[in-house]
Amino acid sequence: MSLTLPAVFEPAGDPVRFRKALGRFATGVAVVTAQTKSGPVGVTVNSFASVSLAPPLVLWSPAKASSRHSAFVSAGSFAVHVLAAGQKPVCDHFIRSATGFDIMAHTLNESGVPLLKGCAAIFECMREAVHDAGDHSIILGRVLQVHTGESSALMFRDGQFERAG
Ligand SMILES: Cc1cc2nc3c(=O)[nH]c(=O)nc-3n(C[C@H](O)[C@H](O)[C@H](O)COP(=O)(O)O)c2cc1C
Repeated sequence: MSLTLPAVFEPAGDPVRFRKALGRFATGVAVVTAQTKSGPVGVTVNSFASVSLAPPLVLWSPAKASSRHSAFVSAGSFAVHVLAAGQKPVCDHFIRSATGFDIMAHTLNESGVPLLKGCAAIFECMREAVHDAGDHSIILGRVLQVHTGESSALMFRDGQFERAG
């Protein structure tokens, strides 16, 4: 193993290399859902992170450039679904589309937020705060209920999807 520091560069000067460096950090893949006046919306993300155990807080970051940004920052309630390894089609669907819940196995919670079936975990949240953060917003959620499944999670690393384990 090399003990030298990796090559240095400035992120603003080389955004492609910046993204590639960020991709070295393996994450799970989540679908965030919310209810709006014009119906339910969803989006595939890997910016989900745990924040606090007591109180129970999590965060994720919608891009300001996304057509779905305003729907999610305005939503008082949302659900974060940690996708199972077999849910790549669900992942792909919510990369491309914000809607299409008619073809997704789901129920609605008390706030009308869609809860997708077959996930590794679900965090039902109420919006705690929204912070401005460069070209993204940070949505902080207070976790009200958690569902856990037995499936292993879908993973994302170095720009590729893979199964955990
Ligand atoms: C692995 C992966 C992770 C993503 N993570 C985020 C994210 O954290 N935040 C976000 O806003 N979009 C994220 N996206 C992009 C969204 O899934 C979606 O493609 C985007 O919101 C589409 O914007 P549009 O509604 O303008 O077409 C991610 C996409 C992929 C493939």
